[in-house]
Amino acid sequence: MSAVAEKKELKAHIWDRHPDDWYVEEIWCSRRLFQEEAFDGGIWDPSCGLGRVLYSADAAGYPTTGSDIVCRSGFCDALFDFLMCERPRARNIVANPPFKIAEKFARHALAIADGKVVFLLPLTWLTGKKRSHFLQASPLRRVHILSPRPSMPPGPVFEAGEKPGGGTKDFAWFVWERGYEGAPEIHFMRKEG
Ligand SMILES: C[S@@+](CC[C@H](N)C(=O)[O-])C[C@H]1O[C@@H](n2cnc3c(N)ncnc32)[C@H](O)[C@@H]1O
Repeated sequence: MSAVAEKKELKAHIWDRHPDDWYVEEIWCSRRLFQEEAFDGGIWDPSCGLGRVLYSADAAGYPTTGSDIVCRSGFCDALFDFLMCERPRARNIVANPPFKIAEKFARHALAIADGKVVFLLPLTWLTGKKRSHFLQASPLRRVHILSPRPSMPPGPVFEAGEKPGGGTKDFAWFVWERGYEGAPEIHFMRKEG
C-alpha cells in the first residue's frame, strides 16, 4: 500500500469513536486554566491519558498525580476505574473526563473531593435539560468558556503524528467548590490570555 493510501486508511479508521473516549485536548486549555484558577493543594487527574492536564499543573508548580484505566503516558501513576475509587489521591480533581460517562465522573468527583473539581466539558451542559438541572443543584462556582474552540482529536491521531485541526464543538472548564451556594460566574478564557 502507498504511503498516501496508508495515511488515508489510518485517518478513516482513527477518527472512529475511541472505545475508551480518549480524546486529547490542546495544551493551551490546561495551561490557561492554571493561569486563571488558583488551587490549594495538589492536582489529581483520574483520566489522565497523555497527561496534558498534569503537564500544565506541574508547570504551574502544583504537586500532581495521575490515573487512568489504560496507561498512556509517564503521567499515569496508577491504573483503576475512577468510578470505583472512594479515596481521593489529591485535594483537587482536574480532568478532561471520558465523554460517555462524564456526568457520572462529575457526580463521583463531587462526592469524594476535598477541594475543587474542575472538568473540561461541552458548553451544551449549560443548556441540556438534565445536565442544567444537575448543574443548578451543584456547587458550581465558575465556568471558563474557551475561545477559540479547542480541537480534541482521538489519541491515536496524535500518535499518528497528525496536527489537530480547528475544533467544531464548544468547550468550557466547569469549576465546582465544595460548599459554594452562590450563582456561578461566567468567564471568557482566551487562548492567548
Ligand atoms: C478525554 S480522555 C483524557 C485526555 C487527557 N487529558 C490527555 O492528555 O490525553 C479520557 C480518558 O479517560 C480514560 N477513561 C475512560 N474510562 C475511565 C474510567 N472509568 N476511569 C478512569 N479513566 C477512564 C480513557 O482511557 C482516556 O484516557
